[in-house]
Amino acid sequence: MRSISYATLGAFVLVLAAPTTAAADGSVVGGDAVHVSESPWVVALASHERFGTDRSGQFCGGVLVGRSTVVTAAHCLSKEVLGVPWQQVRDLRVVIGRDNLAGRGGKELKAANVWVNPRYDSWTNEGDMAVLKLERPAGGRAIPIAGRGDAAYKPGTRATVYGWGDTTGAGSYATGLRSAGVNVLEDSVCSQAYPGSADGTYKPASMLCAGAQGGGRDACQGDSGGPLVARGRLVGLVSWGTGCGQASHPGVYTRASALLPAVSEHGAD
Ligand code: ARG
Repeated sequence: MRSISYATLGAFVLVLAAPTTAAADGSVVGGDAVHVSESPWVVALASHERFGTDRSGQFCGGVLVGRSTVVTAAHCLSKEVLGVPWQQVRDLRVVIGRDNLAGRGGKELKAANVWVNPRYDSWTNEGDMAVLKLERPAGGRAIPIAGRGDAAYKPGTRATVYGWGDTTGAGSYATGLRSAGVNVLEDSVCSQAYPGSADGTYKPASMLCAGAQGGGRDACQGDSGGPLVARGRLVGLVSWGTGCGQASHPGVYTRASALLPAVSEHGAD
């Protein structure tokens, strides 16, 4: 999270990576443009007040998991990212149905209620989850959360990550939504990559490891809180990683099944 937060502060890039090559510094490039109409549960978190109006004020991703319930990463609502405690952000919005952040399509709904996991550990990055209740239902566009034991968590499963984040690892924010194909990886891959570094510690019970063989496709800064989807179900939220798209350092996601208790307790439906 530390690296995430600082990166997010600096620029807000989000990104998803791509099928092309990774830059020499290990950042990701590429990815494919997608339309929110095909993935209507992908949302952007935004504040014009904190982040300006250029890209609709986007600073993180999120996922619609119920008619009026959005999940995102706890670190997205941290002071490191927002510059102030989230309670002081007067115009926290969820942007729904807007492919192009430079445009006005779709809608912006207020978060009427915000729950940020009080047990989120910014050292390991464990518990990186938050639940937002929208002021009103967004429409029937939610994605189901894969429960524990769902086959979608099996290593080798193809998965897709979505976001408006950095497409290069150097601060090139996307204005259009992008997605990248990765694979769910064995927990041991991330346990070995992240035994306890300055960036975080991999905890298999509450995190999920995913990446592309050889690197090059990954989430990046600004994608945090957004969805990792496999078999039509939500399996993860973009959380952290060292660099972006490095073969030796896969992406680490909040395991979606770990969200279920919080969603039933703090979600709207
Ligand atoms: N922490 C980043 C954010 O706030 C997401 C980083 C994901 N990194 C990765 N290599 N998958 O947007």
